[in-house]
Amino acid sequence: EQLGPDLHLRPLASDDYKRGHFDVLSVLTAAPLLSPKAYKENFDELKACAGTYFIIVIVDVASDKIVGSGSVIVERKFLRAAGLVGHIEDIAVSKAVQGKKLGLRIINALEEIGRARGCYKIILDCSEKNIPFYEKCGFKHKEFQMVRYM
Ligand code: ACO
Repeated sequence: EQLGPDLHLRPLASDDYKRGHFDVLSVLTAAPLLSPKAYKENFDELKACAGTYFIIVIVDVASDKIVGSGSVIVERKFLRAAGLVGHIEDIAVSKAVQGKKLGLRIINALEEIGRARGCYKIILDCSEKNIPFYEKCGFKHKEFQMVRYM
């Protein structure tokens, strides 16, 4: 999808490590570089799970650099007649272009994927400071996240 003349939204490619994918991810948390080989192996592992991992990126066409990315993972349940739930993860927009609606565009695209896959809901975890952003995207607060680090 072309988001105007300068920006292109598309699925992650197996060589996007070249385009600054890790720079964008580092706005979220530690995102140490993977070697090109390890990147491709990880990419192929995700791809082998058909219909499950959908990762999209926004590329700045002029510089051929990734400026935003996000994922939706589709989980199949036994309940709700083998219903599908979409989990939104790892939404990241480069600092230099935050506040220009790219985050919103990423969420909209991931929702569209979830809808097309037949998900009955899409959920995500976020920090308190990101609540206003997700509310603007149409999400509402429900329940709590728990974690236990291994
Ligand atoms: N507080 C209040 N409002 C906000 C905030 C905020 N922190 N962030 C965005 N908004 C509002 C915007 O003002 C805009 O409102 P408007 O339509 O009235 O103008 C609307 O939300 C959409 O904002 P975008 O411009 O699309 O936001 P942006 O492109 O900057 O992306 C994001 C938001 C993804 C949170 C970005 O700031 C970012 O990458 N932050 C660092 C990483 C991060 O925290 N990612 C989310 C982790 S949670 C997860 O991945 C499930």
